[in-house]
Amino acid sequence: MKRACNRSCNCYNKDMAENSSISPVISDPFSKDSYQVFKELLSQRVGAKRLAHSINVAKVARRLAKAYGADPDKARIAGILHDWDKGLSNEEVRDRALELGVQVDPMVITDMPWLLHGPTAAAALAREYPHLGADVFQAISRHTSGAADMSPLDCIIYIADIIEPNRTFGDMEGIERLRSLVGEVPLEELYFHAFKYTLEFLISTDRVLYPATIETWNILMRTYGHIAKLNIDIWDVPALD
Ligand SMILES: [Fe+2]
Ligand SMILES: [Fe+2]
Repeated sequence: MKRACNRSCNCYNKDMAENSSISPVISDPFSKDSYQVFKELLSQRVGAKRLAHSINVAKVARRLAKAYGADPDKARIAGILHDWDKGLSNEEVRDRALELGVQVDPMVITDMPWLLHGPTAAAALAREYPHLGADVFQAISRHTSGAADMSPLDCIIYIADIIEPNRTFGDMEGIERLRSLVGEVPLEELYFHAFKYTLEFLISTDRVLYPATIETWNILMRTYGHIAKLNIDIWDVPALD
């Protein structure tokens, strides 16, 4: 962190002004004041629609954290920051991934740049605001593609991103079902349903699948196959003809 000059000169520069404006972020990163600062900073990076979405994700993340015994203030901060890099074009986010040295499958860089905004946001925020912590950065990074070993905060941000009230596209019946399951099923199970919803949406809209997504699905099915009502041992299924 840059320090203010203590000489009696006129060197109060831009960096110092920025530091003073983000002081709540430094002193108490998960406070309401910090949230307001990050919200303001985000408003300078994304359009009104994305800002409204991020505010809703922060609110839903806070609610989910309360419902599932996680830290509501931390969830709110991760929620407001999850789309920090969503205002970048495909070209810009590719450049940013390379500049930040983000470790992702090369296929994502070339064919699926829209998945990069989670990992690049996490890396950029870790560089700028390291005190937010590795758990926040991981949740932000994973919100675009999920993972098999999601932490509670990872699950909360992933789910909040899908079920926030402004989500009015896609399979609304599926989203309503996810919303209705909040507090009714364990968090990891809710994540499984949300991941499945996303996968179904991607397939139904003829999207290319990230190979790691298929791998994640297969791992999740080991645990949640019975919930999918297959009523069979999924690792003892006869091969399809
Ligand atoms: Fe996103
Ligand atoms: Fe989002």
